[in-house]
Amino acid sequence: MDFKVAVIPGDYIGPEIVEQAQKVLDHVGKKFGHSFNYVEVDMGGVSIDKHGVPLTDEALETAKSSDAVLMGSIGGRVGVDSWYQLPPHLRPEAGLLAIRKGLGLYANLRPAYLYKELNGACPLKESVAEAGFDMIIVRELTGGLYFGERKTEEIDGVMTAIDTLKYTEDEIRRIAIKGFEIAMKRRKHVISVDKANVLDSSRLWRKIVEEVAKDYPEVTLEHMLVDNCAMQLVKDPAQFDVVITENMFGDILSDEASMITGSIGMLSSASLGAGKFGLYEPSHGSAPDIAGQNKANPIATILSAAMMLRYSFDLDKEADAIEAAVQKVLEDNIRTIDIMSEGMQLVGCKEMGDCICDRI
Ligand code: IPM
Ligand code: MG
Repeated sequence: MDFKVAVIPGDYIGPEIVEQAQKVLDHVGKKFGHSFNYVEVDMGGVSIDKHGVPLTDEALETAKSSDAVLMGSIGGRVGVDSWYQLPPHLRPEAGLLAIRKGLGLYANLRPAYLYKELNGACPLKESVAEAGFDMIIVRELTGGLYFGERKTEEIDGVMTAIDTLKYTEDEIRRIAIKGFEIAMKRRKHVISVDKANVLDSSRLWRKIVEEVAKDYPEVTLEHMLVDNCAMQLVKDPAQFDVVITENMFGDILSDEASMITGSIGMLSSASLGAGKFGLYEPSHGSAPDIAGQNKANPIATILSAAMMLRYSFDLDKEADAIEAAVQKVLEDNIRTIDIMSEGMQLVGCKEMGDCICDRI
């Protein structure tokens, strides 16, 4: 089959890691008889430099007219890169928020899985690492604080900043349904994370999640307060299967979950809407400190490409092949610098891509 993939290389390590993911996709395509036609889209700092805005209307249209979007990473260093002298709505991150909203991608799936080969890189104590964990965080992506009204103004002579955290029942219902659907294909356990002891938005969240849960009698539902969840993630990560949560909580908890896997360089993500369309990107950022040095770990982007095959193109066998090749590379003791340990073979970004292709 033929697929049209919009590719957003983005900033700093973005182009390096995306190149490796495309190489792996082409390899899979050759082996299984598919072709991926790429169309490049500017977003983030690179788009600001070329077009003056982090995402042009044309770029959004190109993304919309493709079958899926594969992204590297965008953004840079506040206080260093000139992009951050621009007003907030013209900075690189605004492009990412705009494309998520523009494409209706309200569900962000962030799997966090501890490969046993990386037990040593897990910062948790040995007994916890040995128990392993395999969870997926389902983060609401187009509502809440990041999309609410905001302003900074002087009120009675005092500078005051306001951000608004708003959720409608429909926004909560659709993300809850995604979470329960995913749980049905996994260990059938949902932990819904909120701050219902304080926030109205969380109390509505809890009520709607409980309503949705009635349609999934096989799935067990547990509620957890977000502060407790932050603690439980490092204390006993094995208890988590599917986590559903609102935008900001999910942003924070998914970084925490990724770090306990050993390196944020391993974590893929999928942002999905109502249909098959999705945007796939690593959970990590653009790592300006190692950009252009062939040091970045491309695995998160390669695994994101595998998610694209699975969720947008229904190519499960092909996705399995990529995931198995990543597993094999780790078993063969091949490591990029972020997951390096004694006795392992250190490789660069490009070589990691090659090693994964060789094992497909
Ligand atoms: C992420 C990032 C973004 C977010 C930023 C760059 C806007 O942190 O994808 O987690 O908060 O969604
Ligand atoms: Mg984040």
